[in-house]
Amino acid sequence: MPAVYVVSIDPQASTVWWANRITDLPFDFSQEHETPENLAILKDTGARVHVIVNQKGGVGKTTVTLNLAAVVADVMKDSEDLLHVFIDTPGSLQDQYLLQEALKYAHDAIVVMPPEGLAFDPTARTIEQVIEPSGVPYTVVINNWDPRDGVLDLEDTVAYIDAKGWQRAKTVVRRYKVHTRASVEGKVVTQYQKNRASFEAREDFYRLALELGFGGR
Ligand SMILES: Nc1ncnc2c1ncn2[C@@H]1O[C@H](COP(=O)(O)OP(=O)(O)OP(=O)(O)O)[C@@H](O)[C@H]1O
Ligand SMILES: [Mg+2]
Repeated sequence: MPAVYVVSIDPQASTVWWANRITDLPFDFSQEHETPENLAILKDTGARVHVIVNQKGGVGKTTVTLNLAAVVADVMKDSEDLLHVFIDTPGSLQDQYLLQEALKYAHDAIVVMPPEGLAFDPTARTIEQVIEPSGVPYTVVINNWDPRDGVLDLEDTVAYIDAKGWQRAKTVVRRYKVHTRASVEGKVVTQYQKNRASFEAREDFYRLALELGFGGR
Protein backbone atom coordinates (compact mmCIF):
# COMPACT_ATOMS: atom_id res chain seq x y z
CA MET A 1 0.00 0.00 0.00
CA PRO A 2 1.42 3.44 -0.87
CA ALA A 3 1.99 5.74 2.11
CA VAL A 4 -0.34 8.37 0.66
CA TYR A 5 -3.97 8.29 -0.34
CA VAL A 6 -5.84 11.12 -2.07
CA VAL A 7 -9.62 11.41 -1.91
CA SER A 8 -11.72 13.89 -3.81
CA ILE A 9 -15.17 14.87 -2.59
CA ASP A 10 -15.57 17.55 -5.25
CA PRO A 11 -18.60 16.76 -7.42
CA GLN A 12 -17.01 18.85 -10.19
CA ALA A 13 -14.26 16.29 -9.98
CA SER A 14 -11.44 18.00 -11.80
CA THR A 15 -9.16 15.87 -9.61
CA VAL A 16 -10.56 12.73 -11.18
CA TRP A 17 -10.04 14.08 -14.62
CA TRP A 18 -6.50 14.91 -13.66
CA ALA A 19 -5.76 11.72 -11.75
CA ASN A 20 -7.09 9.59 -14.59
CA ARG A 21 -4.63 11.21 -16.95
CA ILE A 22 -1.64 10.67 -14.72
CA THR A 23 0.25 7.52 -15.47
CA ASP A 24 1.95 5.86 -12.53
CA LEU A 25 0.22 7.85 -9.82
CA PRO A 26 2.53 7.83 -6.80
CA PHE A 27 -0.48 7.51 -4.45
CA ASP A 28 -3.83 5.75 -4.23
CA PHE A 29 -6.80 7.80 -5.34
CA SER A 30 -10.57 7.67 -5.09
CA GLN A 31 -13.61 9.85 -5.69
CA GLU A 32 -16.15 9.88 -2.82
CA HIS A 33 -18.51 12.82 -3.26
CA GLU A 34 -21.50 10.50 -3.57
CA THR A 35 -20.57 8.56 -0.48
CA PRO A 36 -18.76 10.96 1.87
CA GLU A 37 -19.72 8.72 4.81
CA ASN A 38 -17.10 6.28 3.45
CA LEU A 39 -14.53 8.71 4.82
CA ALA A 40 -15.34 7.38 8.29
CA ILE A 41 -13.08 4.37 7.68
CA LEU A 42 -10.12 6.76 7.55
CA LYS A 43 -10.40 7.06 11.31
CA ASP A 44 -9.32 3.46 11.77
CA THR A 45 -6.31 3.58 9.47
CA GLY A 46 -4.07 5.51 11.85
CA ALA A 47 -3.13 7.86 9.00
CA ARG A 48 -3.07 11.64 9.40
CA VAL A 49 -5.99 13.13 7.49
CA HIS A 50 -5.56 16.56 5.87
CA VAL A 51 -8.40 18.45 4.23
CA ILE A 52 -7.55 21.02 1.55
CA VAL A 53 -10.12 23.81 1.60
CA ASN A 54 -11.43 27.09 0.35
CA GLN A 55 -15.00 27.61 -0.73
CA LYS A 56 -13.70 30.10 -3.25
CA GLY A 57 -13.23 28.29 -6.54
CA GLY A 58 -10.05 28.16 -8.56
CA VAL A 59 -7.60 29.06 -5.79
CA GLY A 60 -5.43 25.98 -6.31
CA LYS A 61 -6.90 23.34 -3.95
CA THR A 62 -6.53 20.53 -6.46
CA THR A 63 -3.05 21.68 -7.49
CA VAL A 64 -1.90 21.77 -3.87
CA THR A 65 -3.61 18.47 -2.99
CA LEU A 66 -2.06 16.43 -5.79
CA ASN A 67 1.41 17.96 -5.64
CA LEU A 68 1.69 17.89 -1.86
CA ALA A 69 0.52 14.27 -1.97
CA ALA A 70 3.12 13.52 -4.65
CA VAL A 71 6.07 14.92 -2.68
CA VAL A 72 4.94 13.31 0.58
CA ALA A 73 4.58 9.99 -1.27
CA ASP A 74 8.12 10.49 -2.57
CA VAL A 75 9.53 11.25 0.87
CA MET A 76 7.65 8.32 2.45
CA LYS A 77 8.15 5.84 -0.35
CA ASP A 78 9.81 3.23 1.84
CA SER A 79 6.89 3.06 4.26
CA GLU A 80 4.60 0.03 4.23
CA ASP A 81 1.81 1.79 6.08
CA LEU A 82 -0.70 4.40 5.00
CA LEU A 83 0.57 7.57 6.68
CA HIS A 84 -1.15 10.57 5.07
CA VAL A 85 -4.54 11.13 3.48
CA PHE A 86 -5.28 14.31 1.52
CA ILE A 87 -8.89 15.24 0.82
CA ASP A 88 -9.62 17.64 -2.05
CA THR A 89 -12.86 19.55 -1.50
CA PRO A 90 -15.33 21.58 -3.60
CA GLY A 91 -14.81 25.26 -4.32
CA SER A 92 -18.41 26.28 -3.86
CA LEU A 93 -20.86 27.21 -1.15
CA GLN A 94 -23.49 24.73 -2.36
CA ASP A 95 -21.47 21.71 -1.30
CA GLN A 96 -20.72 22.90 2.22
CA TYR A 97 -22.14 19.69 3.75
CA LEU A 98 -19.44 17.70 1.93
CA LEU A 99 -16.75 19.88 3.42
CA GLN A 100 -18.29 19.54 6.87
CA GLU A 101 -18.37 15.77 6.46
CA ALA A 102 -14.66 15.73 5.57
CA LEU A 103 -13.80 17.93 8.54
CA LYS A 104 -15.32 15.31 10.85
CA TYR A 105 -12.48 12.94 9.99
CA ALA A 106 -9.66 15.48 9.58
CA HIS A 107 -6.68 16.03 11.82
CA ASP A 108 -5.98 19.35 10.18
CA ALA A 109 -7.02 21.61 7.33
CA ILE A 110 -4.90 23.40 4.74
CA VAL A 111 -6.57 26.58 3.56
CA VAL A 112 -5.31 27.53 0.10
CA MET A 113 -5.42 31.25 -0.67
CA PRO A 114 -4.10 33.31 -3.58
CA PRO A 115 -2.41 36.66 -2.84
CA GLU A 116 -5.28 38.80 -4.07
CA GLY A 117 -7.83 40.97 -2.32
CA LEU A 118 -10.77 39.29 -4.03
CA ALA A 119 -9.99 36.13 -2.13
CA PHE A 120 -9.98 37.70 1.34
CA ASP A 121 -13.71 37.68 2.14
CA PRO A 122 -14.51 34.22 0.75
CA THR A 123 -11.50 32.77 2.60
CA ALA A 124 -12.59 34.44 5.85
CA ARG A 125 -16.06 33.03 5.39
CA THR A 126 -14.75 29.50 4.97
CA ILE A 127 -12.50 29.77 8.01
CA GLU A 128 -14.91 31.55 10.32
CA GLN A 129 -18.15 29.81 9.36
CA VAL A 130 -16.99 26.30 8.55
CA ILE A 131 -13.49 25.42 9.77
CA GLU A 132 -13.39 27.17 13.15
CA PRO A 133 -16.80 25.79 14.25
CA SER A 134 -15.49 22.29 13.41
CA GLY A 135 -12.60 22.71 15.85
CA VAL A 136 -10.10 21.34 13.29
CA PRO A 137 -6.74 23.16 13.41
CA TYR A 138 -5.80 24.84 10.16
CA THR A 139 -2.92 26.53 8.35
CA VAL A 140 -3.34 29.05 5.55
CA VAL A 141 -1.04 28.50 2.56
CA ILE A 142 -0.57 31.27 0.02
CA ASN A 143 -0.56 29.79 -3.48
CA ASN A 144 -0.05 31.19 -6.94
CA TRP A 145 2.17 34.13 -6.12
CA ASP A 146 4.02 35.38 -9.18
CA PRO A 147 7.34 36.93 -8.08
CA ARG A 148 7.28 39.07 -11.23
CA ASP A 149 4.26 40.90 -9.81
CA GLY A 150 6.36 42.18 -6.92
CA VAL A 151 5.76 41.77 -3.22
CA LEU A 152 2.93 44.26 -2.59
CA ASP A 153 -0.01 41.89 -3.00
CA LEU A 154 1.88 39.20 -1.15
CA GLU A 155 2.60 41.55 1.76
CA ASP A 156 -1.04 42.69 1.86
CA THR A 157 -2.18 39.09 1.99
CA VAL A 158 0.31 38.18 4.72
CA ALA A 159 -0.79 41.25 6.72
CA TYR A 160 -4.45 40.29 6.30
CA ILE A 161 -3.87 36.71 7.44
CA ASP A 162 -1.76 37.77 10.41
CA ALA A 163 -4.27 40.46 11.47
CA LYS A 164 -6.93 37.74 11.50
CA GLY A 165 -4.70 35.66 13.75
CA TRP A 166 -4.80 32.67 11.41
CA GLN A 167 -1.90 30.25 11.41
CA ARG A 168 0.07 30.80 8.20
CA ALA A 169 2.68 28.71 6.41
CA LYS A 170 5.91 30.59 5.78
CA THR A 171 6.30 28.68 2.54
CA VAL A 172 4.58 30.44 -0.34
CA VAL A 173 3.76 28.32 -3.39
CA ARG A 174 4.83 30.37 -6.35
CA ARG A 175 3.05 30.62 -9.65
CA TYR A 176 4.80 28.63 -12.34
CA LYS A 177 3.60 27.91 -15.82
CA VAL A 178 4.74 24.32 -15.37
CA HIS A 179 2.00 23.83 -12.77
CA THR A 180 -0.69 25.17 -15.08
CA ARG A 181 0.64 23.08 -17.94
CA ALA A 182 0.95 20.00 -15.76
CA SER A 183 -2.72 20.11 -14.88
CA VAL A 184 -3.48 19.86 -18.59
CA GLU A 185 -0.87 17.19 -19.24
CA GLY A 186 -1.81 15.19 -16.17
CA LYS A 187 1.49 15.37 -14.32
CA VAL A 188 2.43 15.92 -10.69
CA VAL A 189 5.56 17.80 -9.60
CA THR A 190 7.61 14.67 -9.04
CA GLN A 191 7.10 13.85 -12.73
CA TYR A 192 8.14 17.22 -14.14
CA GLN A 193 11.02 17.42 -16.59
CA LYS A 194 14.36 18.31 -15.12
CA ASN A 195 14.98 21.97 -15.71
CA ARG A 196 15.44 25.00 -13.50
CA ALA A 197 11.82 26.20 -13.43
CA SER A 198 10.52 22.70 -12.70
CA PHE A 199 13.07 22.27 -9.95
CA GLU A 200 12.01 25.50 -8.25
CA ALA A 201 8.33 24.74 -8.73
CA ARG A 202 8.83 21.35 -7.13
CA GLU A 203 10.88 22.71 -4.26
CA ASP A 204 7.95 24.83 -3.04
CA PHE A 205 6.01 21.64 -2.37
CA TYR A 206 8.92 19.84 -0.69
CA ARG A 207 9.44 22.89 1.51
CA LEU A 208 5.73 23.09 2.31
CA ALA A 209 5.59 19.39 3.21
CA LEU A 210 8.55 19.82 5.54
CA GLU A 211 7.09 22.92 7.17
CA LEU A 212 3.72 21.25 7.71
CA GLY A 213 5.43 18.34 9.42
CA PHE A 214 4.72 15.75 6.71
CA GLY A 215 8.38 14.80 6.36
CA GLY A 216 11.27 16.21 4.39
CA ARG A 217 14.35 15.22 2.54
N1 LIG B 1 0.99 27.70 -8.13
C1 LIG B 1 0.39 27.68 -9.32
N2 LIG B 1 1.10 27.99 -10.46
C2 LIG B 1 0.50 27.97 -11.67
N3 LIG B 1 -0.79 27.65 -11.88
C3 LIG B 1 -1.54 27.33 -10.81
C4 LIG B 1 -1.00 27.32 -9.49
N4 LIG B 1 -1.99 26.95 -8.63
C5 LIG B 1 -3.09 26.75 -9.39
N5 LIG B 1 -2.83 26.97 -10.70
C6 LIG B 1 -3.76 26.87 -11.84
O1 LIG B 1 -4.97 27.55 -11.49
C7 LIG B 1 -6.10 26.83 -11.98
C8 LIG B 1 -7.01 26.51 -10.80
O2 LIG B 1 -6.31 25.61 -9.93
P1 LIG B 1 -7.06 24.39 -9.22
O3 LIG B 1 -7.90 23.64 -10.17
O4 LIG B 1 -6.02 23.64 -8.47
O5 LIG B 1 -7.98 25.21 -8.20
P2 LIG B 1 -9.17 24.64 -7.27
O6 LIG B 1 -9.18 25.49 -6.04
O7 LIG B 1 -9.02 23.18 -7.10
O8 LIG B 1 -10.44 24.96 -8.16
P3 LIG B 1 -11.96 24.44 -7.88
O9 LIG B 1 -12.47 25.28 -6.75
O10 LIG B 1 -12.66 24.70 -9.17
O11 LIG B 1 -11.85 22.99 -7.53
C9 LIG B 1 -5.55 25.61 -12.70
O12 LIG B 1 -5.45 25.91 -14.07
C10 LIG B 1 -4.16 25.43 -12.10
O13 LIG B 1 -3.27 24.80 -13.00
MG1 LIG C 1 -10.37 21.62 -7.45
